[in-house]
Amino acid sequence: MPETVLEVTGLRRTFGSVRAVDDVSFTLAAGGSLGIVGESGSGKTTTARIIVGLEQADEGAVLVRGRSRTGRARGRTERLERAREVQMVFQDPYLSLDPRTSVEAVLRETLRLHFPGADHAARIRELLDQVGLGTRAADALPRQLSGGQRQRVAIARALAVQPAVLVLDEAVAALDVSVQAQVLNLLADIREQTGVGYLFITHDLGVVRCVTDEVVVMRHGAIVESGPTAEVLDSPQHAYTRLLLESVPRPGWDPDRIAAARRAL
Ligand SMILES: Nc1ncnc2c1ncn2[C@@H]1O[C@H](COP(=O)(O)OP(=O)(O)OP(=O)(O)O)[C@@H](O)[C@H]1O
Ligand SMILES: [Mg+2]
Repeated sequence: MPETVLEVTGLRRTFGSVRAVDDVSFTLAAGGSLGIVGESGSGKTTTARIIVGLEQADEGAVLVRGRSRTGRARGRTERLERAREVQMVFQDPYLSLDPRTSVEAVLRETLRLHFPGADHAARIRELLDQVGLGTRAADALPRQLSGGQRQRVAIARALAVQPAVLVLDEAVAALDVSVQAQVLNLLADIREQTGVGYLFITHDLGVVRCVTDEVVVMRHGAIVESGPTAEVLDSPQHAYTRLLLESVPRPGWDPDRIAAARRAL
């Protein structure tokens, strides 16, 4: 059995009367890739934000390598320590990258914060190389880059701290299909090279099949089904999972029938 890097148990979070996360538990093996799928509003992002520490849980625990990170971090040192364990990549790198900061400066800032005193030039080259950005991109500002290149910068920044877990929330959703494929291939390579584990949030079942070993299916904040990705997608046990699979547009697809089935569920 591979070591567990991330363990989530009994997470709950309500916003007013909305149960955004309702008793969610799962584990991620070290170097593994776990997908979270579910339709809009099912609680995927809230779960991710709790794991990263951007949101507090009402109940439940998040353990990384067996250590709890559920309570508020006590001070700067612990905050930085936690950041080195889990990093997050968002859908829109435009919002997460400072428009006035060059690619190199972004990476340098992160490295300085976490590893002060060291010379970072070689590491910056290594990171750029790892995400397939040449050193020529180092001086570029975010607006001078394509969407795919910006997402590579965001991935490089996340990898800079050598996290045990990378949480990717719809990280390829905004990219066109061919760029999406490139970034997914890149992520697969990076996982192989570094042993980082992925928590991969997406509404795209094709993406889940491509980059995850296991998947959990969320609905109304709760997990309705989980298991090895191929098993869940090829022989879904829960009606909601079947509905998600049927909701993927294809020839002969009938959105009205699916909408009716969704209402009946
Ligand atoms: N800060 C907040 N305040 C109030 N309600 C919230 C907040 N964050 C999330 N919610 C609600 O919690 C539920 C789950 O939202 P969440 O963003 O986790 O879903 P999601 O699965 O990520 O959806 P999407 O696929 O659209 O990104 C939704 O009903 C949402 O409106
Ligand atoms: Mg979301």
